[in-house]
Amino acid sequence: KRVAVFASGSGSNAEKIAEYFANRTDIDITLILSNNPQAGVITRARRLHIPVVLFDRKTFYDTPKVIEILQNERIDLIVLAGFMMLVPEAMVRAFPNKIVNIHPALLPKYGGKGMYGHFVHEAVVAAQESASGISIHFVNERYDEGDIIFQATCPVTPEDTPDDVARKVQVLEHQHYPAVVEKLLNALNG
Ligand code: GRF
Repeated sequence: KRVAVFASGSGSNAEKIAEYFANRTDIDITLILSNNPQAGVITRARRLHIPVVLFDRKTFYDTPKVIEILQNERIDLIVLAGFMMLVPEAMVRAFPNKIVNIHPALLPKYGGKGMYGHFVHEAVVAAQESASGISIHFVNERYDEGDIIFQATCPVTPEDTPDDVARKVQVLEHQHYPAVVEKLLNALNG
């Protein structure tokens, strides 16, 4: 099975996924794709010897180029790991139920456009939530609204800062995302 990972930022989730499958011959992290030439994920991909494809907004939304690359590479599953762009409808249609994302909060709360990264943790602290966590979900045309596949929670105390919450949530991400990706790959027919 061949996996493409999309990331816009540091790429710690992409790295954890690549490391998890490093010695598997039946599962290959074939490509890492990013919209951000400065993204830390590029350095991590180089260290992991995974090819990187960079694209800009225009290419992503106005051309079939990225979809064609994924099809030419016979990608079986697309994993978004800190990818900050809405997936174009054409890509959702080309890969039905084969695009998965991780959101650093307990959807359906704290989801949707603009609710990513630190804003999410700030909102959770501001709302004095007693828990936060991760949501791994299929991707459809609307932000963070696909079917939820997996959730895990962590406690939030009144003393916690958004950074504290981010740290606890990231532990959950690294702990669970690779194994959820593996389950999805096993479930892919054939
Ligand atoms: C994570 O918080 C993830 O939940 C969110 O973006 C962040 C990605 O972190 N989608 P990294 O780039 O994988 O380190």
